[in-house]
Amino acid sequence: MHRKNPTVAAARTALVAAIAAAFPLFAPGASAAPEPAEPAQKPWLNPSLDADRRARLAVQAMTQQEKLRWVFGYFGNDLGGKSKKHPDALHQSAGYIPGTPRLGLPALFETDAAQGVASQAGPNVRERTALPSGLMTASTWDPKVAYAGGAMIGSEARASGFNVMLAGGVNLQREPRNGRNFEYLGEDPLLAGTMAGHAIKGVESNKIISTLKHFVLNGQETGRFELDARIDKAALRMSDLLAMELALELSDAGSVMCAYNRLNGPYTCEDPWLLNGVLKRDWGFRGYVMSDWGATHSTVAAANAGLDQQSGHEFDKSPYFGGALEEAVKTGAVPQARLDDMAYRIVRTMFAKGVVDHPVKPGGVIDFAANGAVSRQTAEEGMVLLKNEGRILPLAKTVRTIAVIGGHADVGVLSGGGSSQVYPVGGIAVKGLKPDTWPGPVVYYPSSPLRAIQAQAPNAKVVFDDGTDPARAARVAAGADVALVFATQWIGEANDAQTLALPDRQDELIGTVAGANPRTVVVLETGGPVTMPWLARVPAVLQAWYPGTSGGEAIANVLFGAVNPSGHLPATFPASEQQLPRPKLDGDPKVPELQFAVDYHEGAAVGYKWFDLKGHKPLFPFGHGLSYTTFAYSALAGQVKDGRLHVRFKVTNTGNLAGKDVPQVYAAPLSTKWEAPKRLAAWSKVALQPGETKEVEVAVEPRVLAMFDEKSRTWRRPQGKVRLTLAEDAAGTGATSVTVDLPASTLDVRGRPRAR
Ligand code: BGC
Repeated sequence: MHRKNPTVAAARTALVAAIAAAFPLFAPGASAAPEPAEPAQKPWLNPSLDADRRARLAVQAMTQQEKLRWVFGYFGNDLGGKSKKHPDALHQSAGYIPGTPRLGLPALFETDAAQGVASQAGPNVRERTALPSGLMTASTWDPKVAYAGGAMIGSEARASGFNVMLAGGVNLQREPRNGRNFEYLGEDPLLAGTMAGHAIKGVESNKIISTLKHFVLNGQETGRFELDARIDKAALRMSDLLAMELALELSDAGSVMCAYNRLNGPYTCEDPWLLNGVLKRDWGFRGYVMSDWGATHSTVAAANAGLDQQSGHEFDKSPYFGGALEEAVKTGAVPQARLDDMAYRIVRTMFAKGVVDHPVKPGGVIDFAANGAVSRQTAEEGMVLLKNEGRILPLAKTVRTIAVIGGHADVGVLSGGGSSQVYPVGGIAVKGLKPDTWPGPVVYYPSSPLRAIQAQAPNAKVVFDDGTDPARAARVAAGADVALVFATQWIGEANDAQTLALPDRQDELIGTVAGANPRTVVVLETGGPVTMPWLARVPAVLQAWYPGTSGGEAIANVLFGAVNPSGHLPATFPASEQQLPRPKLDGDPKVPELQFAVDYHEGAAVGYKWFDLKGHKPLFPFGHGLSYTTFAYSALAGQVKDGRLHVRFKVTNTGNLAGKDVPQVYAAPLSTKWEAPKRLAAWSKVALQPGETKEVEVAVEPRVLAMFDEKSRTWRRPQGKVRLTLAEDAAGTGATSVTVDLPASTLDVRGRPRAR
């Protein structure tokens, strides 16, 4: 969104004003033609008919103006003081599409995003429950947790009067500095797609629509409005597109949001290969495509390429799907059948998802205590114990003195900025931080780690130092039994981190404190991976991501062992930027209108696959995560049943504490080549009592064992041997392996065995 850049926003708004003055009837529905009367019968409102039939009947009953209104979205807030929010939009919301009351079809009220019900900045934010960041949900590796979180935030959306939630962000983490990684689900298509699918299903279980976004390859924020993402199409099918395809299959998401960037030339919102081809033809998507806010660039090209709805038209250079679309249909440049299909897709989704039969109303009751517990459980399952030398953690409740240092840990936990910003019940914990404008403000949730730590160790003396003076912090730490340093990295939409280093001299702070007290534990609240020059000098590191509205309690529960950590990294932590496919970020953050290309030469070799291919040793590998207990694997076997590879193995808790493990199955072809040596093929999250063994069986998604062929649009696997490795992480910790012989197989474009 252009909320940040006043020049671009002003220029765009001026243009919109000029167009509005020249064509006062640009908004659909503004035509002078009299509105027809309300029909005596409305058979499309009969819930016993199927959604297709209902939508066909409804569209048949619509006037041209009514059809046009469905495809034209308004921003739900004032834009830079220049354009006013639509009067019927919910205040400080993402968007609004008027309904057709004459036909009994309600308006669409849109809210961001995947962490909860967000508010656009302004004087009257909604206070809602925030889930931890998407990366933290992905770190749980538990689809049930993703579903529960989605169901919770979707219920708050419904209670707030929204029937469209702009959730389901699943851009693969190709760039660890990407300012929106915290909204996404990591670097692996199988993991990210699976978790997104369950989260979206949870949102839509509230009889509202969720999006899947940003389609596709919006892999960095720098230059996002103009950059041309260049990638081999087959590689894209096996990476970012595969994540979206899996998410869509699992969830049947009602809407897909096309992205800001270009893809191999065209903007994604007017790319016929992507929208009509991949999404609607190949995947059989029956929902509707909405543009990102400011991502529509044309009328005829966009409509004919498959865009169904222009969102927040105030952000675009022109109201393309307003009067211009009406004109284009009159001249035949956009066929009438296409406009009918656009309206059909939108109302069909509304029928299919329950939006018409179960209208939303603001002012619903929200159980913040129960929802806060859902958020806390997600955080507890997603906390990743990166290092724990000498078993310094969990802390004993009998510890006498604890120094808590930095990160505003006395009052709250951090969240990420931009359109997804959820504001907490109880107000922002730290006032006056910069930036206070887009993509800010910087929001700390009032869930104090310090207080939660004190509650875990009621007899301990817990002291706080804000960490702004490393020497002073070191003096505080020196006298304590244990020092807990909270380090933070704030990041937000539209901004990439310029480096993987922690900001504000926090590396120096940690080093100095560790020098004063060898029992120093670092708790990281970061948007994504960071580098850790001090790693060898501290015995323990806990990755707490952005832990959501109950994050302080979750952190304390893990530090003291009330919860045994079971999160595993959904993304590689690089040792340095030099290991990345693009050591330097392309583009210039100061020139958003700069035209440039990003060459995704790594293709499908994203994250750990790239590291494997290049032989780079990361700081922490994908999949890594420690527990307070230990696990061992045995009896690994693979077998093809009904054309699908099934993997069986046993997991034993070999320690003294109950805990959860995430055994990961990686597949490596021995007689053919993939983009990289191995791929994640399956995993499970297993809860085990001390000494307990469980047998697990997982079925492998066949597309993960195949290569996509763009020419025939099929997934292919030659006959041959594949090595299966069961391990704690992508680096092979605790690994056991077995080789299986797989028959040749050709799957259709949707991954189904091809009919002969
Ligand atoms: C973001 C979308 C968001 C939209 C509406 C855009 O800036 O890229 O993710 O849904 O704004 O707020």
